[in-house]
Amino acid sequence: MSNSITIKNKIQNYNKKIFVSGDKSLSIRWVLFSSIASGVSKAKNLLTSKDVMASIQAVRKLGIKVVLKGHTCKIYGKGINGYKFKKNLIIDSKNSGTLGRLILGILVNCSYPIKLIGDKSLSKRDFKRISDPLKKFGVNFKLTKGKHLPLKILGSQNLNPIKYYENRGSAQCKSSVIFAGMKANGTTYIKAKKSRNHTELLCKYLKLPIKTIIKKNYDLIEIKKVKKISSFNYDIPSDISSSAFFITLTALSKNSSLLIKNVNINPTRIGILTILKKMRINIKLKNIKNYKGEKIADIFVKSSKKIKSINCPVKLNSEAIDEFLLIFLIAAKAKGTSYFKNLSELNQKESPRLKWGAKILKKMGIENEVTENSIKIFGNPNLQINKKIIIKNFLKDHRVFMTSVIAALSFGGTWKIYDKDSTNTSFPNFLKIINELNK
Ligand code: S3P
Repeated sequence: MSNSITIKNKIQNYNKKIFVSGDKSLSIRWVLFSSIASGVSKAKNLLTSKDVMASIQAVRKLGIKVVLKGHTCKIYGKGINGYKFKKNLIIDSKNSGTLGRLILGILVNCSYPIKLIGDKSLSKRDFKRISDPLKKFGVNFKLTKGKHLPLKILGSQNLNPIKYYENRGSAQCKSSVIFAGMKANGTTYIKAKKSRNHTELLCKYLKLPIKTIIKKNYDLIEIKKVKKISSFNYDIPSDISSSAFFITLTALSKNSSLLIKNVNINPTRIGILTILKKMRINIKLKNIKNYKGEKIADIFVKSSKKIKSINCPVKLNSEAIDEFLLIFLIAAKAKGTSYFKNLSELNQKESPRLKWGAKILKKMGIENEVTENSIKIFGNPNLQINKKIIIKNFLKDHRVFMTSVIAALSFGGTWKIYDKDSTNTSFPNFLKIINELNK
């Protein structure tokens, strides 16, 4: 089967309601937390993408029973120190930074060395940002070239608590240290730049001895040793990062509207909504509810006639970190020049996404000026593409593929986009929903 897709026409008008699949961050966290809980936990609407399947595979290798039927999953947790495994264990994190980084925080007391590997993309990413703080607890690490996967971790049975300043706005680093802190003797303190807070909210829901004090520009987190985590059930809400593709498509299309049901609108994840609203995209939240500490709503979005450029406030960067490629497409159609800065973290993702953003825009005929950490985009409200564009990303970044599909359906031209199977990383249903909208 061909691994590319060719798109020759813009999408038709639509007024529809869709459901997107479960949140990736919450799905991976649910798998990890329930693997160290005591007893059987059950999730509904679990995302069954490759990243989450890699998480299930990882905890199975650590001796945990997992039963998955469709999107319903049962995990038979054996307690906070309940992993059982043989020597020479290899865990494959595949494409998932979240799995690779968070699980290291749980493995801080493993009594044999464990090897962590990943795919080509993950093997290029920085794991020193995790090994550095975990080493301070007393954990041993051996990384490839001091920074990369494959790595080996050997835990310690006597973990010292640490004081850690998380200054990148990385929820993966913060969460890894929270997991490690749960096993240390004493109180671990984290001062963390704002980033998604699903781990802290789950700790609160599970009544663990972990306290967060919210300050204006950072959070203070205090973590005490955890004796037991009770098993828990969870209905995973839909993923805002997956919804973002359809929010963008609708905003850029003509005479269309879309209702996306039951999306997790955690305030630390909705940068895309805040930014798009500032750019005069018509977005409304309906049926707002609370669920186990998270916030859920239906998102309603309409086509926009006039899009305004933005000088994007830096404080929204972390809240929108996975959505910038899409936001750049909106800026491409805005009147005026948009400016995004302090975005070096974007080049640390599954592929260097800031560079990819500039590359896609250039292929579309949109002038832009990119540096290592910023991009200026000179918008064109009348943008209409009439040429052939080929997108091939050898690191198979799922968000590069899906963003390119949205650009093709919004701006026209003939696009040949490779690496269709990358959608399996986070959003296996992506093309099926596109086809439903285009019917
Ligand atoms: C994630 C955190 C973010 C994000 C990633 C998922 C998480 O990464 O980009 O897709 O679930 O914790 P960083 O924490 O490295 O910024």
